[in-house]
Amino acid sequence: MIDIHCHILPGIDDGPSNMDKAVDMALAAVRSGTSRIIATPHFKNGVFEVSKEMVSVSVEMFTRVLEEKRIALAVLPGAEIRISPDSCTLLDRGELLSLAGSRYYLFELPDIFIKQGIIEVLRQLRQREVIPIIAHPERNRTIQRHPEMIPEFIYENALFQVTGKSLTGENGKLCFKIARDMVKEGQAHFVASDGHNIRHRPPCLDDAVKVVKKVGGYKAVSTIFEENPAKIEGRCLAGNVVTGRRVG
Ligand SMILES: [Fe+2]
Repeated sequence: MIDIHCHILPGIDDGPSNMDKAVDMALAAVRSGTSRIIATPHFKNGVFEVSKEMVSVSVEMFTRVLEEKRIALAVLPGAEIRISPDSCTLLDRGELLSLAGSRYYLFELPDIFIKQGIIEVLRQLRQREVIPIIAHPERNRTIQRHPEMIPEFIYENALFQVTGKSLTGENGKLCFKIARDMVKEGQAHFVASDGHNIRHRPPCLDDAVKVVKKVGGYKAVSTIFEENPAKIEGRCLAGNVVTGRRVG
């Protein structure tokens, strides 16, 4: 299994504060059935100063430690980028980091936003053949109030990543309902851990897989956990067709 959204790099953002804690997270991920993680530190969110170079150096160092300890986890570079009107300018300057070198980028919405502003950015991204994946919409306050925006954003070329803990009910009733509805409606293209630490936000997806199986059946499990992530990794020659619709 691949986890496309996880804060696992040590000392870079609000993930693990040191290498030992990062290794503990890696062990927990492997135990729960994850073999690959895209490391997605917060990026351009106005809090953490993270650059592409920092991510690539950190991924390299972490990989070396995992190899030394014989932990079977591949770590790939990525970022969780706060979407803004400047996103395309930053992209054009080469300052943004995609998921595992693909044309998929993970974007986080601000809690309060104006729909038309986001749609404008999504359209600009589409012109650049970028495929935006919006992180954890079920936890966003504006989307919680207006879940009808979800299909509108999908229409504008966005894909959605739901957080595992929302599906298991650990993020509260509202997140649980929206996340389950998204799986039922085929609007959850990815499920990721958004792991930050071992105790409260572990990098584990096994419980979420069970919920997806219950809510959407085997087809949803294979689309969400195998087919769609394979497209990010470029292992699917059929291209970027997600849930039966061309997205890029
Ligand atoms: Fe995150």
